[in-house]
Amino acid sequence: MCGITAYCGNDLALPFLLQGLNKLEYRGYDSAGVTLLEDDGLVTVKCRGRLKNLEEKLSDYTLKGHIGIGHTRWATHGVPSNLNSHPHSNDDETISLVHNGIIENYRELKEELLEKGYHFQSETDSEVVVLLLDYYYDGDLFAATKKVLSRIEGSYALCIVSTFEPDKIIVARKDSPLVVGKVSNAYVAASDIPALLEYTKDVYFLNDYEMAVLEKDNIHFYSHDGKPIEKDMNTIPYDIEAAKKDGYEHFMLKEIYEQPRVINETLRGRIVNDKIILDELKDIDFSQFNKVYYVACGTAYHASLCGSQVLERVTKLPVIATVASEFRYNDPIVDEHTLAIFVSQSGETADTLAALRLAKAKGATTIAIANVLGSTISRDAHYVLYTCAGPEIAVASTKAYTTQLVLLILLAYYVAQKLNIEVNLQLIHELDTIPDYVNQLLADHDIYASWAKMLENLHDTYFIGRSLDYASVLEGALKLKEVSYVHADAYVAGELKHGPIALIEPGSVVIAVATQPHIAAKTISNIQETIARGARVILLTTEGQEVKNVENTYYLPKVSPTLQSILVAIPLQLLAYYTACIKGCDVDKPRNLAKSVTVE
Ligand code: AGP
Ligand code: GLU
Repeated sequence: MCGITAYCGNDLALPFLLQGLNKLEYRGYDSAGVTLLEDDGLVTVKCRGRLKNLEEKLSDYTLKGHIGIGHTRWATHGVPSNLNSHPHSNDDETISLVHNGIIENYRELKEELLEKGYHFQSETDSEVVVLLLDYYYDGDLFAATKKVLSRIEGSYALCIVSTFEPDKIIVARKDSPLVVGKVSNAYVAASDIPALLEYTKDVYFLNDYEMAVLEKDNIHFYSHDGKPIEKDMNTIPYDIEAAKKDGYEHFMLKEIYEQPRVINETLRGRIVNDKIILDELKDIDFSQFNKVYYVACGTAYHASLCGSQVLERVTKLPVIATVASEFRYNDPIVDEHTLAIFVSQSGETADTLAALRLAKAKGATTIAIANVLGSTISRDAHYVLYTCAGPEIAVASTKAYTTQLVLLILLAYYVAQKLNIEVNLQLIHELDTIPDYVNQLLADHDIYASWAKMLENLHDTYFIGRSLDYASVLEGALKLKEVSYVHADAYVAGELKHGPIALIEPGSVVIAVATQPHIAAKTISNIQETIARGARVILLTTEGQEVKNVENTYYLPKVSPTLQSILVAIPLQLLAYYTACIKGCDVDKPRNLAKSVTVE
């Protein structure tokens, strides 16, 4: 996720570029930059930090170019720094580009370019694109661009400017968004609609593999094979605030619906021919460990509970999943034979950071699972793996959670593979199908909205589950609590009879998750005990599971039990969301909460 803007017209380009980047900062902002085509060539100004840092730097320049590109970065490869900021140029600064996405095969392309004598200034994946353009340019920038696009794998939205052809901007996209607009006196492009809305509501959406050439008074669209095509113009019906939410009412809902795409981005390049590829960890000797700690807070802890069980199942390594605020004060038994995994969306959570530093001091090898490149936890850990969920704006974590689950499952299977343990290849094959199943579940939103009506006037509700389902119900209960203020408790289903069932009375609502075949029937029998005491039940189970006399049974698609943890999150997230909406709560900014808890 990042923000891209481009302007090709008869007025100054810079004002459009900057206002557009400002409107796109919600898409990620660890650095920013612009390139303008000035009389004496390409001028690039870029720096780490927020957009205001760039604007301060620009005050030292007089840029009068009528063609330019801009970028706010959400880093995926190469920590936030001046050199890793976009735009990226070739050595003689005859070509410059901005990129949103991930170049999956950048390592081999970088090797190839280094062998050809090229030098890299940055650690990013994006820089291979501009140097490939330099290599393939032979008098026709469009032809060179097509050739480069045929070489790169991954996701991209690209805007390219060059002194070779100083009257145009070439744009292209695959899997990352790019919208083009006609404004008075110019053609423009941007990652998202908010960047254009002050100038126009008339836009063209590029489809995957399509390209466009923006000129001052004209625009040409091309299909993936370079053939000219016509595009229909769309008129945007909503305002700037709605546009930042992509037309969704809340960021939470937008981020729930982003999950198919960001799960894809998190999987991208990490499963090749049934092998899990996590080169970031290639120097770790996993045979040295006799214990694995998972340490996190809140939702990240629930993902850790799931991830730890998966690792234990596939590697037989003893695991402990614990909350960071306990770990840091309980003098845990940790030494050089301990692997400690710290999960954090923000990478700035105080308890998690303190726990990480304690584990390191005790000799553990530490891995961070983070969503923000260059965050403190990601820099303090010995190793780091990144989810590619993009910025998560809503306080209630949704897409970060499911991408954490995906990455922790990949990690478990990676460790097994490094320990030469035979693994269930079917699960690895199924991972690629998860985004489609998530889309299928999202389509059932009306069902989850009907469940929300059952909770509307309740003060309490109860979640139950066993094994991996227990992690899911803990997360489901937290989501509901956080955004709707309904008091939701999650219990191991087998513990109901040891006390909590005293709380069940006629009209109580019990939300049960039973997706683990070896234990589902036990949970379903626990449900009967609650029904016998007047409870209304919502049961989430899997196709084929035998169920009798349960009021609301929802069947999840049949996938490997481990992957059910990802799928079941979708109905539970939307149940929480719809309940909060019915109750008129502040969905994106719930009372008393902060997005990142950087204090104890
Ligand atoms: C989750 O919805 C909450 N916002 C909260 O529990 C959060 O997961 C927790 O504070 C941990 O944050 P982190 O992942 O950024 O470390
Ligand atoms: N992968 C590129 C980088 O890390 C682009 C990231 C983005 O989309 O902002 O620089």
